Formats: sequence, C-alpha cells, structure tokens
Amino acid sequence: VQRGTFFFPGPTEVRTEILEAMLRQPLPHRSPEFRERFAALQDGLGRVFRTTRPVYIATASGTAMMEAAVRCAPAGRILALVNGAFAERFVRIAQACARSVDRMEVAFGDVPDPDAVAAALERGSYSAVTVVHSETSTGALADVAAIARVARDAGAATIVDSVSGVGGAQLEVDAWGVDCAVSASQKALALPPGLAFAVASEQFLGAADAGTDRGVYLDLLEFDRHARNNETPATPAVSLMYALERQLAAIQCEGIEARWMRHEAMRAVTEKWVDRTREVRALDIRMLARPGARSPTVSVVTVPAGISAPVLVDRVASRGYTIGAGYGPLRETTFRVGHMGDHRVDDLEQCLAAISDALQELAPRVGV
Ligand SMILES: Cc1ncc(COP(=O)(O)O)c(C=O)c1O
Repeated sequence: VQRGTFFFPGPTEVRTEILEAMLRQPLPHRSPEFRERFAALQDGLGRVFRTTRPVYIATASGTAMMEAAVRCAPAGRILALVNGAFAERFVRIAQACARSVDRMEVAFGDVPDPDAVAAALERGSYSAVTVVHSETSTGALADVAAIARVARDAGAATIVDSVSGVGGAQLEVDAWGVDCAVSASQKALALPPGLAFAVASEQFLGAADAGTDRGVYLDLLEFDRHARNNETPATPAVSLMYALERQLAAIQCEGIEARWMRHEAMRAVTEKWVDRTREVRALDIRMLARPGARSPTVSVVTVPAGISAPVLVDRVASRGYTIGAGYGPLRETTFRVGHMGDHRVDDLEQCLAAISDALQELAPRVGV
C-alpha cells in the first residue's frame, strides 16, 4: 500500500516504521525487561486515554473489551444507547451474557441527547449505561462528557466504546468521570489489529468484584491485578506491543491535543468537500451524521440515488485509494472515509479528489 492512500475505517494505514518495530524476538512476558517495557507503555497509554489508571492490554479485538466491560458491569439493568451498528453490539453482548438490558433508540446519524438519557435513567433503575463514542457505522460523535455526567448523577456506571475514538477524538477518561472505556489498536492509533484496551475506575472494579460472571480471559480484575505487576494475565502479542511502543513515542512527539486537532481538521475538510460537491457539482451527497455531532475520525456519506456505494468504492480503488462501503444496512447507500490515525489533510484531499472523479464517472447524467 502506498503511503497516504488507505482510508479504510479500520484497520487503518500502518506506517512502515511501525511494522518494522515488530521485527524482533518476542520477549518472555514474565521477564524483567518485559515489565520495564510494560511500565513505559502505561505512561504512553495514560497520556492517550487521559488517565492515571492502568490501561489494560488484551490480545484480542475491541469487541472483547466491550464484552469484558459488560461482564464486569455492576449488577443490575443496563441501559444501551443505540445509534448505530456498534452501539447495537453492546445489546447483543449484554443479552448473550444474560444481562438485563433496555435500549434507548436514537436515529442513525444522530447521537444520544444527554437530557433524554437522564430522563430514561430516572424512569428505570440502571446500574450502567453503554455508549459508543465514535459510531463507525454512521460517523456520529457522542457527547461522552455529558452522558457520563448524567449517568453519574443517576448512580449508573458509564461504559464507553471508543474503538474508533481513542487517539483521534478527544476522550478524557479521568476528567469526564468515565467508569470504563474500551478501544482497539487498528483504528485511530494506526496499529495493526490484535490489541484491545480498557480502563476501569476503582469503583467499577469494586462493583465487578462483587459479581460472579466475569469469566477468566476477559476478567478486568485479573487485568488489573497483573497490570499492577506490569504484566498481562496471559501470553500477550508481544510483537504488537513493540509496534505500540513505537507509535506511543510518535504520539508523544506529536502531542495528543495536536493529534485531536489534526483529526478535527480532516473532519472539517471532508465536511466542506461534501457540501461543495453537493452545491457546485449538483450531486446529492450528504454527511449521515448531523452537524455538530460528527466524528473527527470517520465520515459516513450518503450516495446519490442510482449510485451503488460498493461500486463507487471499487471505482475509487481503481484510482489507487481505499475507502469503505457502508456498514450493515447502510452498505449500499453510504460510503465511509476513515480519516484517522497517521493520515494528513493533504493526503485526504487527494483521496477526496479521487472520490470526486469516481462520482463524476458514475453520474454523468446529473450534470457533474
Ligand atoms: C465503534 C466500534 N466499536 C466496536 C468495534 C469492534 O471492534 P473489533 O472489530 O476490534 O472487535 C468497531 C470495529 O469496527 C468499532 O468501529
């Protein structure tokens, strides 16, 4: 893959130097050198998640840590805020783990209204709320700070899926009072897939300790116990941890705030391109997410009637750029641009130009 061309919404483009960091002998995970490296990773991860708590590292994908969070959630009913396919995944997990779960439906493309969440929490008796920070299927960015606030006021724990948020969209685990946040390596952190992350508050772990169905591999208490000794409960993907090490150093050089701002700039450029394409080229494309609630890491764009999104994605690929078709039920009618990780605005502009070209080819009769 040529650098600056792979705009898939996860896995994202991984720089060569990150891939090269994995080309060394994996260390035994109970060795002093591993512990030293694990401790250094904690510093870097803490800066990314904005927490002084340990950041647990699992050899798994993001869904695993979503399941860990649900299994470890305090006893009682869970309120799931459902505004997309990944938000829906929390419902499936909760049901499969025999947890009582109620859904609060939110239109796809919209985000949960904190006042409505507060009202729902008041009507029911909930021990936890699940929310997706950056909903990769719709491109919507939830107001996690406000939701965590209303949840806390109602005595419920906030569980946040920030799989496509962390590293690209601002998330303040400690300052916002998030009880449990989960993420994964292959999105805005621009690493290969295979590592999942979680942070849990002291209170969340305390409640988990009183529960009985945490399992073994996904038991956050086990992760916590081992993290305190700078290790993982089971054999980790050490090679991926070398890649993480290299990437955290790069993130520290850039600065996490600067990284968030770069992602914001990519969102703004995409938003402007969509508006210009619609107004100047008379092509009816629109951002699916509503203004003011758009993710800085992924844009989901509706295609004009008569154009199939997967066909458009193929035409873009023939121009050397990879983007994604819509997710699940949105597959035919939307395409997704993953402007996350280590991409830069100028690369994104080239990608958007390639999409314009492909649209022009597919819609000659609407006067483009
Ligand atoms: C918002 C969100 N949540 C959860 C997931 C699931 O993560 P994974 O595929 O790493 O299990 C994804 C993956 O695309 C995602 O974008």
